[in-house]
Amino acid sequence: MEDILNFHVGDFVDIHTHILPGVDDGCRSLTESIDFARLYEKAGIQQIVATPHFIPGTAWAPDKITVREKVDSLNGHLAEHGVNLRVFTGMEIAYHDNLGPNLEQGMLLPLGNSEFFLIEPPMTKGADLFLADIGGLVEQGYRIILAHPERIEGLQNNLEAVHCLVREGALVQINFHSITGYFGRRAKRASEKLLEMNCCHFLASDSHDLRKRPPISLTELEMLGRFPAVMNALKAGNRKLKELFY
Ligand SMILES: [Fe+2]
Repeated sequence: MEDILNFHVGDFVDIHTHILPGVDDGCRSLTESIDFARLYEKAGIQQIVATPHFIPGTAWAPDKITVREKVDSLNGHLAEHGVNLRVFTGMEIAYHDNLGPNLEQGMLLPLGNSEFFLIEPPMTKGADLFLADIGGLVEQGYRIILAHPERIEGLQNNLEAVHCLVREGALVQINFHSITGYFGRRAKRASEKLLEMNCCHFLASDSHDLRKRPPISLTELEMLGRFPAVMNALKAGNRKLKELFY
């Protein structure tokens, strides 16, 4: 298994991926999903979570049963094709009005066998309401991971509010490709700041397809791992993942 400065790539779980075919803007076909999975295998990554978008009121709102069936089916195909990658169930849940009631009614899927929900903040407007609502949910005991806050316009200039949520118990996932600058200067700067503030519990790829937004490669992991803050976050993430998935 590949090691980067004592970081075991085989222990890493990519908690944010759009590998499921035909459910959102991620992989479009089973063939693409299998090729996608082979890229993970090539990087030495053995476990990932499928987190299709869940955006109520749109075509991207798969229910729990559909996601479970599709993940089971994909795992079966990967085994048939000899790809050494296990896919867990999950969702990237867009923040929405009924988030609290939907969580309470068990409508939404957490990541794998954990109790953690991956919640995507609103991309443009409504950051204040989001922060207040998430704070309330964390207070009620829900385990929340914020998906890529560094990409969110309303949070990029208010990272202290993210820090506040973290102090209250929320966790943060940053995209690898925010650090490399793929999402622009503001996202890069915000990702660096969050890392400095120790506000990053998971790094993930948020991978969508083979070309524009592919899975993280070993070369990229090695390059990013040279930054002490990134390596610390990766190691901390691996420790946390053990709580989530084992
Ligand atoms: Fe995503």
